[in-house]
Amino acid sequence: MEAKHNANQYNYSKGNKIVIQNSNVLPAYRIPMVTLSVNDLMVQYQNQEKKIHAVDHVSFSCKENESIGIVGESGCGKSTLGLAIMKILQENASVSGEILLDGKSILSMPDAEFTKNIRWKYVSMVFQGAMNSLDPVFTIRKQFEEILKKHNFEGNYKQIIESGISSVGLTHSVLDKYPHEISGGMKQRVIIAMALVLKPKMVIADEPTTALDVLVQAQIMILLKKLKKEGLSVMLISHDLGIISEIAEKVGIMYAGQIVEFGNMQDIYRNPKHPYTIALLESIPKLDKTEKIIPLRGNPPSLVNPPEGCRFYDRCSQAMEKCKKDPPKIKTVSGFVMCWLHE
Ligand SMILES: Nc1ncnc2c1ncn2[C@@H]1O[C@H](COP(=O)(O)OP(=O)(O)OP(=O)(O)O)[C@@H](O)[C@H]1O
Ligand code: SF4
Ligand SMILES: [Mg+2]
Repeated sequence: MEAKHNANQYNYSKGNKIVIQNSNVLPAYRIPMVTLSVNDLMVQYQNQEKKIHAVDHVSFSCKENESIGIVGESGCGKSTLGLAIMKILQENASVSGEILLDGKSILSMPDAEFTKNIRWKYVSMVFQGAMNSLDPVFTIRKQFEEILKKHNFEGNYKQIIESGISSVGLTHSVLDKYPHEISGGMKQRVIIAMALVLKPKMVIADEPTTALDVLVQAQIMILLKKLKKEGLSVMLISHDLGIISEIAEKVGIMYAGQIVEFGNMQDIYRNPKHPYTIALLESIPKLDKTEKIIPLRGNPPSLVNPPEGCRFYDRCSQAMEKCKKDPPKIKTVSGFVMCWLHE
């Protein structure tokens, strides 16, 4: 399987170049980038009497100069993982385990310290669907100002806002428009600029291209790649492995609350090991091949009472008797796979 396929799939830049203006006024990102280490992270939501195991014993790490992609089906826990890193989960969530950002343990850090020094200033997030939640009654400039006020920013508002909007390839005139006056692609770039306005070192982008047409998707990916080149660490969350392969050196394949395979993007793309990863790759349309797309049938198990053993059991064509027991975590060249086939 060739990574080339997906690189081509989104390579629409030629006739539809986005103009990146004033790149010399971009946030001063510095190399080295952020290291992220997640150890045995668990997030459970309490919903009336039900406990939802949204993130279950998740561990992975990525070094400086590596961006990470998290991919998986709807409801597998991707956003919950991102929100846990931002310490911004809803009140019905309980969290355990460890998250280290550049070696700092953030779960044990007091909330006041995290809010003052880390959230938005060190790591920020482009929330899933955020472009639809821009306030319709305020101009874009006003909404930037509100963010800065909320974070007690004391510098020059006009300068930082204009530099932020330029950094995502938009003109300053956008700032005086209302959300309904700009396109979906522009809104998404505004949201990215808002996430970056306090110059974080890392951004978690949760489905930043969903609901955008393919040309605009390509523009957003070009923008994220540009920001990454300038030293911003990116954690990209998507249900689309093709999009992830555009940007991430490391990828975590998430299934029913667990990361079932993790490693270098190239290794996983060329030599996927977990049957779910293989199924994900087989379900990507290939423009240059005549082979049929093989859709994955069935649904993931409920996260309320996840079954014992391998969670992919009911959908796996290679399931064996022993798969009814929890699969071991097997080391691979650049990460791990959780599957009895590879013990
Ligand atoms: N605040 C909450 N209270 C209760 N359950 C929640 C809450 N937030 C998420 N969940 C549940 O946790 C599980 C994981 O949800 P999450 O949003 O993290 O998945 P996701 O992979 O991001 O899905 P999608 O691709 O649809 O965005 C789902 O079963 C979801 O219904
Ligand atoms: S552990 Fe068994 S059921 Fe699970 S993915 Fe591997 S082979 Fe399939
Ligand atoms: Mg989500």
